[in-house]
Amino acid sequence: MNFHFAFLRLRVFVVKVFFTLHFSFFIFHFPKFLPTFANNINTHSMVTKIIEKAINEQILKEEHSSRIYLSMASWAQVNGFQGAAEWLYAQTDEERMHELKLIHYLNDRGGNALLDDLEKPAGKFKSLLDVFQQVLKHEEYISASINEIYALSIKQNDYSTGNFLQWYITEQIEEESTVRAILDQIRLTGEEKGGLFHMDKELAALAAKKRTSQLAAATTNAGI
Ligand code: FEO
Repeated sequence: MNFHFAFLRLRVFVVKVFFTLHFSFFIFHFPKFLPTFANNINTHSMVTKIIEKAINEQILKEEHSSRIYLSMASWAQVNGFQGAAEWLYAQTDEERMHELKLIHYLNDRGGNALLDDLEKPAGKFKSLLDVFQQVLKHEEYISASINEIYALSIKQNDYSTGNFLQWYITEQIEEESTVRAILDQIRLTGEEKGGLFHMDKELAALAAKKRTSQLAAATTNAGI
C-alpha cells in the first residue's frame, strides 16, 4: 500500500465517522425538536393571545350593540314609532349575527370565545332624532374598534384575521351610511307629527328590506 492510498482511506474513514456521529446525534435528539416543529406550525394556524383578546373584546361590543338597539326598539315601540321599532329590532338581530360570526371565527382559529358582563343599556330617549344620533355615535365607535383590530392583525402578521375583518370594515361603512341617511331624513321632514309619521313609514320599509337581506345572508351563511 503506497502512502497516497493509505492517506485516502484515512480521509474516507474520518468523513464516515463525522457523518455517523452527526446522524446519531440527530436521531438521539430528534424527539426534543418535535415541540419546536409543532410550535412553528401552530404559530401560523392559531390566533395569537393578543388577537384572541382583541376579538373577545369585539364579541362583547357586538353583543352590547345588540342590547343597546333592543332597548331603543322597545322605547320606539311604546312611543308609537312602529317603523323605527321594526328597524331597530332587525338591527338587534344583525348585531347578534356579527357577534356569532366572530365567535365562530375565533374558535375555528384555535382561540376560545368567551362572554363577559355587559353594562346596562339606556332605556329612555328624548326623541327619535336622539335615538338615531346615538345609533350613529355607537356605529362610529364600532368602526374605530374594528379598524384597530385590523391594524393589530397586520402588526401580528395575522393576515387571515385581517382578511376576515375586511367583511366588517365594509359592513361598518354601509351601516354608518344608512344611519346618516336616516338622520338626514329625520332632520329634513322635521320633528312635527306629520314629518315623523312619514319618517316612521320610511323606516318600516327599510326594516322590511333589512329583514329580506338578513334572510338571504342566513341562507348563504348557514354554517355560522
Ligand atoms: Fe356590528 Fe353595527 O356593528
